[in-house]
Amino acid sequence: MNYNIAVMPGDGTGSEVVNEGLKVLKAAAARAGFAYELTHYDFGGDRYLRTGETLPDSAITELSGHDAIFLGAIGHPEVKPGILELGILLKARFALDLYVNLRPVKLFPGVETPIKDKGPAEIDFVVVRENTEGLYASTGGFLKKGTPDEIAVQESVNTRKGVERCIRYAFDYAGRPDRRGRLTLVGKTNVLTYAWDLWWRAFNEIGDADYPRIKREYAHVDATCMWFVKNPEWFDVIVTDNMFGDIITDLGAMIQGGMGVAAGGNIHPGRIGMFEPIGGSAPKYTGQNVINPLAAIGAVQMLLDYLGQTEAAGWVESGIIHAVSKMKSLSAGEMGMGTDAVGDLVAEFVIKG
Ligand code: IPM
Ligand code: MN
Repeated sequence: MNYNIAVMPGDGTGSEVVNEGLKVLKAAAARAGFAYELTHYDFGGDRYLRTGETLPDSAITELSGHDAIFLGAIGHPEVKPGILELGILLKARFALDLYVNLRPVKLFPGVETPIKDKGPAEIDFVVVRENTEGLYASTGGFLKKGTPDEIAVQESVNTRKGVERCIRYAFDYAGRPDRRGRLTLVGKTNVLTYAWDLWWRAFNEIGDADYPRIKREYAHVDATCMWFVKNPEWFDVIVTDNMFGDIITDLGAMIQGGMGVAAGGNIHPGRIGMFEPIGGSAPKYTGQNVINPLAAIGAVQMLLDYLGQTEAAGWVESGIIHAVSKMKSLSAGEMGMGTDAVGDLVAEFVIKG
C-alpha cells in the first residue's frame, strides 16, 4: 500500500505535536511495511494574516486527492476567534463532506481521571457525532437586526439521508470486534420533537432491518452528561447530532484525562478522513518543547485505523500507554521530559513492540 497523506500542522504548538505524530507514523510504516507520501500545507493563522486566505477552494480540491489529512491545531492569538475555526476546520468538514466526527473516550492505564472510583475498565466508549448538519448547517438569519425588536433564528437541519448515513456508521462501529455491540442514541426526544423524531425512527428502522445483533439504547443528552460522570461504563458506542456531540465530547475528553490525550477524526468513510488532537494550539507554549504530543499521536493511531492498518494502530496505542507510564504528568511543562522525548518513547515502542 502507498498512502497519500496531507499534513496541516496549523498554528502554535501544532507543528511540534505533528512532528511527533509523524515520527510515530514513520515507525509504524516501517514495521507494518506500508509506504506513504506526505504533502505539507501551511494553512493556519500565520498564512491568514499574511494572505487573507483560510482554506481556499483550490486547497479543498487538492486535499480531496489524499487518503487522509493529519491536522495539528487551529487557533492564533492575533486572529479574531471564529475566522480560522469556520474558515479552516468547518470548511474542511463541509467541503469534504466529512460526515462522521469520531471521538474515542478511553482512559489509558496510569492516566488520572477526575471521576472517583472509575478506571480504564469503566471509561471506554466512542462517540459518533454527525458532522455536517444540525445547528452547524448555518441556516437561519436575523430579522430587524440591531433594533430592540431584533430576532435571531438558528435552525437545526436534519436530513433523513444525513442522519441515516451517520447512524449506519455507528451501527457498523458497534459491531466491530473491539466493541461490545451496544449503540446508544443520545438525543432530546422529549422536547425537540421534530429532529429527534426523525433520528429515533431512523435509528430503530435501520437497527431492526440491518443490525439485529446490536443492542440499542436511548438516553437524553442532559442525562448522558450525568451518566458520563456517574456510570460511564454504561456506554459502548454513542450516536448523536452535531451540537450535542460537540458538547458531550468535551466532557468525554475531561473524563479520559484531558486535552493532552484526546484525539478525534472527521471522516467520510471510504473517501477521506481528517484526524486531529482536539485540544487547541496552546500558543503560549510554542517552541518550548513542553507540549504533550500524545493527543496528536492518538490522532495518528486513529488515522492508521481508518486506513485499515488496524494492527499498526494497536501498536501505537500500546506505545502511548508505555509513554504514559514513563511521564510524570500529562500537562504541558510538567511531563518530566520534552515533547520530542515523548514521541521517541512511542516510536521506539512501535518499532520494537
Ligand atoms: C470541535 C470544536 C469545533 C466544533 C470548533 C473549533 C469549531 O469544538 O471539533 O469539537 O465546534 O466542532
Ligand atoms: Mn468541540
